[in-house]
Amino acid sequence: MGSTTPLADKDRIFTNVYGFQGADLKSAQARGDWDKTADLMKLGQDTIIEMVKDSGLRGRGGAGFPTGMKWGFMPKEPTPGRPNFLVINADESEPGSCKDREIIRHDPQKLVEGALLSAFAMRARAAYIYIRGEFIREAQVLEDAVAEAYAAGLLGKNAAGSGYDFDLFVHRGAGAYICGEETAMLESLEGKKGQPRLKPPFPAGAGLYGCPTTVNNVESIAVVPTILRRGAEWFKSFGREGNAGTKLFQISGHVNKPCVVEESMSISFRELIDLHAGGLKGGWDNLLAVIPGGSSVPLVPAEQIMDAPMDFDGLKELGSGLGTAAVIVMDKSTDIVRAISRISYFYKHESCGQCTPCREGTGWMWRTMEKLRTGDVDAGTIDRLFDVTKQVEGHTICALGDAAAWPIQGLIRHFRPELERRIAENGGQLEAAE
Ligand code: NAI
Ligand code: SF4
Repeated sequence: MGSTTPLADKDRIFTNVYGFQGADLKSAQARGDWDKTADLMKLGQDTIIEMVKDSGLRGRGGAGFPTGMKWGFMPKEPTPGRPNFLVINADESEPGSCKDREIIRHDPQKLVEGALLSAFAMRARAAYIYIRGEFIREAQVLEDAVAEAYAAGLLGKNAAGSGYDFDLFVHRGAGAYICGEETAMLESLEGKKGQPRLKPPFPAGAGLYGCPTTVNNVESIAVVPTILRRGAEWFKSFGREGNAGTKLFQISGHVNKPCVVEESMSISFRELIDLHAGGLKGGWDNLLAVIPGGSSVPLVPAEQIMDAPMDFDGLKELGSGLGTAAVIVMDKSTDIVRAISRISYFYKHESCGQCTPCREGTGWMWRTMEKLRTGDVDAGTIDRLFDVTKQVEGHTICALGDAAAWPIQGLIRHFRPELERRIAENGGQLEAAE
């Protein structure tokens, strides 16, 4: 587990993530994209799915569901009038996350080629890339990349000379965070208000226009061509069992050099920051807490995160999660209650209002968090707030309810003395809560 040297350049999938070279097709081909794609397709659809299963790739959008297994849910023989679809989630809106944006800006042909190979494996003749509304320039880059691929015969009829007909569409969102939830995305693609559907049925059973559909994140699809070229064993040689591969980490907050970087999964937190983000501002003793996977996952206090493996299982063991690997680092200058309260405001603002625990709960939780900032609450508020988060968690249609509850639970679990201090300083009687 872990490593003491940076991932070697030869092992990077996203070789142009910083945009040092062009994003155009010719530059991408010079980097190896679209090299004998038709030969990869000759491996056969089932073999490709098996290779992705073997690679251990877990969804890079946040939930970490095994990608090959998800593909395996799709019908192998689509019935007439009920085609299979692939939908690629480029609605990257999780606070802290900014990796799909970099792939689209600088390495878009990895995504376009990945779309063809993945759709082919799942017997889909069409795929939609749903891109967040605020990504105006990125959507332009993506549309240009798709147009270039069509002009070169890589998409459309007989895509890449494979004999397989495949169309790829870019669809722009309109700026709603909830449309990144896969079923809200399908509703939005169908031209309806973007509100999540109850699951099950999962999209493979009833997805876009009621047809079998797989929704995958940009990074999940963009790594597929490299996995097929270099093999499942190569991908699995990074990280550890159950947490395979390389991963784009997005490091922000109180580090010396915030960055997006591809690294081995399971690298320790300290190594990740020292190797790529220039260490912590003010030195390691100055670390307060880290949100390791974007705003939806609970924070981890300094003493627990330092040697933790940055992967799905390692962070789950700490009561948090890898999420999108958006690592938000907070030093001791942070008002931690204010930081979590700001996250609560975000979820209140983005709730689609469809179910009561989320619609009412996110507003109540945010208002309570704001009062906790100054300690202007009665002594029983901390327990009451925790109770409310438990009533929201798991009782809503989509994961936004959980995402609103978990950061507050993390705060109470790890920073209760700080909350109590604020209440006491404001004249509250903490004994009354006992
Ligand atoms: P989920 O765990 O419900 O589902 C993950 C995927 O697995 C989905 O595609 C789902 O259809 C599939 N799946 C799960 N169980 C299944 C089953 N029994 N049969 C068939 N398919 C199944 O999680 P969800 O709601 O898709 O994602 C939540 C995560 O998304 C959060 O943990 C958060 O980290 C992340 N997120 C990412 C954002 C971004 O900007 N990238 C924005 C907001 C949240
Ligand atoms: Fe909408 Fe919130 Fe319910 Fe999700 S949990 S469907 S965002 S109200």
